[in-house]
Amino acid sequence: MTPLLQLTILTTFVVLSYGAELLGIKPDVNELLLKEGSSQNLECSYGKGDIGTLDWDFPDTKGGISIDTRFKDGQHKSDLKITNFTAAGDYTCKFSSKDGAVVLSDVIILTKVEEDKVEPIFHYGNTSATLSCGISWSKNNEPDIEKVTWKKENTLVSALPEGQRFKIDATNSLVIQDPKQGDIGVYTAEIKIQGVDAPYKCKVSFKAEVVNYDFVGGDFTLMDKQGADVKSAVLTCKSNNPNVQRKIETVEWFMNNTHISKLEKPDRFQVNPENYTLTIDSPRCSDSGPYIARFTLEGSTEAQDCLANFKCSPKVKDFAKSKNLIEKDKMELQCTVTGYPKAEVVWYKDSVPLNTSMDERIELFTLNGYKDARLVIKSIEFSDEGEYTCSAYSDYFNQSANKTITVRVKDKLAALWPFLGIVCEVIILCTIIFIYEKRRNKRAEQEENKAQEADGPSMEKKDGLRHRGNSGNPGA
Ligand SMILES: *[C@@H]1O[C@H](CO)[C@@H](O)[C@H](O)[C@H]1NC(C)=O
Ligand SMILES: *[C@@H]1O[C@H](CO)[C@@H](O)[C@H](O)[C@H]1NC(C)=O
Ligand SMILES: *[C@@H]1O[C@H](CO)[C@@H](O)[C@H](O)[C@H]1NC(C)=O
Ligand SMILES: *[C@@H]1O[C@H](CO)[C@@H](O)[C@H](O)[C@H]1NC(C)=O
Ligand SMILES: *[C@@H]1O[C@H](CO)[C@@H](O)[C@H](O)[C@H]1NC(C)=O
Ligand SMILES: *[C@@H]1O[C@H](CO)[C@@H](O)[C@H](O)[C@H]1NC(C)=O
Ligand SMILES: *[C@@H]1O[C@H](CO)[C@@H](O)[C@H](O)[C@H]1NC(C)=O
Repeated sequence: MTPLLQLTILTTFVVLSYGAELLGIKPDVNELLLKEGSSQNLECSYGKGDIGTLDWDFPDTKGGISIDTRFKDGQHKSDLKITNFTAAGDYTCKFSSKDGAVVLSDVIILTKVEEDKVEPIFHYGNTSATLSCGISWSKNNEPDIEKVTWKKENTLVSALPEGQRFKIDATNSLVIQDPKQGDIGVYTAEIKIQGVDAPYKCKVSFKAEVVNYDFVGGDFTLMDKQGADVKSAVLTCKSNNPNVQRKIETVEWFMNNTHISKLEKPDRFQVNPENYTLTIDSPRCSDSGPYIARFTLEGSTEAQDCLANFKCSPKVKDFAKSKNLIEKDKMELQCTVTGYPKAEVVWYKDSVPLNTSMDERIELFTLNGYKDARLVIKSIEFSDEGEYTCSAYSDYFNQSANKTITVRVKDKLAALWPFLGIVCEVIILCTIIFIYEKRRNKRAEQEENKAQEADGPSMEKKDGLRHRGNSGNPGA
């Protein structure tokens, strides 16, 4: 009873097929490395012809083991099934002859390990990654390895594009030089050991779940009092990982999804080609918002975004001085707010907070992403006259800004008065002209008749022109 190989294997599905006519445990190894909770079958058998019993000795386990002993194919066989490996130690199979004397035994050591393979995680900028099946051999009994192959999916690693980056090292592990994101995937190792029919196989994932690029943005804050004195704003983005920093190929800056070249006066925005910082000349509050530096990295398929904020305390744009409206008109006031982080808008009427729930004519809408920044009164009344203030409060700055507009409401007919005055004037004028014309015709007729009758000189003086009365203008 000597194991052919002192082979320690970290995976569970290994079947070493040796024609064991003598008593022995399969798999035929000294030690097996198992993960807690894993399952493993141990098969013990004894040659034909002998009469006796097969038995197992093993550490105290709390369940997770079943034993099935039978006589099959002319052999005594006993299977020890471990369904939930918890107890490490010696597992011994004993053959006792019928007369009770122990004849033979075989032992296998089960050792608890944390992982049954080494699955590295892709770290951007690492110079190498090692994928390992975790096979190790005891010092004295190195097995004869006939062949080791590593494949990615079904392609030999040497046949992959840039196959020269993949090397198999002295421990049969796969070493990927200068790993790239495209190298992520499942790799399979096949290790053929001399004298063992089935090659030892293991699958290793090269994962990319955690890719820490460590980009950190540097904010810029424009404060109220600085105003026009500030010549430029600088936003920075840099990776704390020197590997990543070295591999930056390009950078594009965006202001909240808009490329800086598409912003207003794009000449003011400059990216430094050495340290990728963004400089904004003559910065103003309307430039404020979230800026993103999008990096492309050598060997990486995905761009990396880094956030840097341009902060500015809230500002409200001036309204027109006043607004004159006519009763029943619709009133709309738009409050233009800038600043970042965004401020909250509240309206006041004559310094009292406007309560929209009191009056259904009054509604507030979102404007330019600012909630309640648009105030609409559907049908304005005299009582709506007053001073309207839009106030923007920033929680971040604990600061507010406001602007006020005066609203005046006029009578609905007010605009009609001048027009009505003109209309009246025209009507009166027409009436006068009409009456006069009628009279004149009548008189002319009478005079003609008289002249025909008397044929004497006429005493009447022709005084057709009369002064027009000024009807006046009541409208204002
Ligand atoms: C395996 O055994 C451990 C300890 O007895 C127990 O906590 C665990 O739930 C078991 N696992 C399974 C899959 O039965
Ligand atoms: C890979 O990169 C990570 C993060 O930068 C680092 O912690 C780790 O030691 C590196 N591994 C190797 C093999 O260089
Ligand atoms: C970036 O480079 C420019 C010019 O090379 C320099 O003036 C500036 O200070 C640098 N900024 C940072 C944050 O290193
Ligand atoms: C507005 O008026 C309603 C009803 O009178 C009241 O419940 C609510 O608290 C008021 N809201 C404000 C902001 O004053
Ligand atoms: C950024 O853009 C989104 C969508 O275009 C918009 O909803 C949001 O208000 C913008 N944020 C700022 C700070 O401009
Ligand atoms: C905000 O400012 C006011 C004075 O303008 C101050 O009383 C208050 O404590 C400040 N609040 C916070 C949270 O800093
Ligand atoms: C508007 O701002 C001024 C200071 O600029 C302040 O005195 C006033 O109370 C503010 N009004 C409102 C309604 O917040």
